Amino acid sequence: MRVIVNGKPIEMRSVWAENGVIKLIDQRKLPRELVIFEARTLDDVAFAIKEMVVRGAPAIGITAAYGMALAHDLGISPEEAAEVLRKTRPTAHDLFFAIDYMLKHYDEGWNAAEKYANDVIEKARLIGVHGEPLIEDGDRVLTHCNAGALAVGDWGTALAPIRVAHRSGKKVFVYVDETRPRLQGMLTAWELLNEGIEHVIIPDNAAGYFMWRGDIDLVIVGADRIALNGDFANKIGTYEKAVLAKENGIPFFVAAPITTFDPNIESGKDIPIEERNEEEVLCVEKPIPPPKGSKARNPAFDVTPNKYLTGIITEYGIIYPPFKKNIKRLLRKALK
Ligand code: MRU
Repeated sequence: MRVIVNGKPIEMRSVWAENGVIKLIDQRKLPRELVIFEARTLDDVAFAIKEMVVRGAPAIGITAAYGMALAHDLGISPEEAAEVLRKTRPTAHDLFFAIDYMLKHYDEGWNAAEKYANDVIEKARLIGVHGEPLIEDGDRVLTHCNAGALAVGDWGTALAPIRVAHRSGKKVFVYVDETRPRLQGMLTAWELLNEGIEHVIIPDNAAGYFMWRGDIDLVIVGADRIALNGDFANKIGTYEKAVLAKENGIPFFVAAPITTFDPNIESGKDIPIEERNEEEVLCVEKPIPPPKGSKARNPAFDVTPNKYLTGIITEYGIIYPPFKKNIKRLLRKALK
């Protein structure tokens, strides 16, 4: 990913390993400052995932893979390392995929983790290549949350087709949902700014207005877990954007690598949805603080039923309906 540091563009990943230390762009600190968080113990890794130093399903997966390699170095048993990491966040399938992968290659340590990271990033690049033709010159694309390079390591999932289209000379304009309550839209805006892609940040509840006006040509979002029938979990608020897109006749795509598909879950009803601390909603650093004594609910994800989905952009190409048949066919090929 291109990041402007002291006025100069540099290429960096959002998570990498160096001399037995896991380095992460601290996403809690962006866009205010670019700070690198260093994880040196298994607890550091668990903290980084839980507290969202790193976030976004594929980047969580890469961090867990590195975490398993670190645990191997520290003489921790594979079962114990897996148990600690599995408890960090429940929804992103990539976390469990990465842990299972590393359990099969535990003795290969960092080499296996590095291969996992490089594979995920290559998948994201291919998602960009396959998704790019969906974007026409001059298109205005809406995205929700941050499914960019920060959330993957590089390229992004939803942002990968946008990056590739921009780099190939197409004019793309991005509507960025601010994404309450954690405001991951600011991360997307930061990435787009660094890449020189035109965009505006909009309040979550403004998306319908812009769709109704005819200002949005296409919606692309990421996913945390995709069921076999195409229902998928993504950041809270995705479902309502999908319904609005259908109502307004706007194509709605999800972009995700194979690591996000859960071959054991038939439909969205079985996807575990994380509920985070109510403090994220009630925190007092708001222009109007909530009244003392009010409680809050904070589901981090929602499930979008497959009927709202135009297609799924993967590293193997785009899956169109019937989803159940086509997802099963792809997984048979990809996971053999
Ligand atoms: O709670 P977060 O910020 O980890 O949620 C992230 C998302 O919902 C992303 O859209 C998803 O993980 C895909 S990231 C390429």
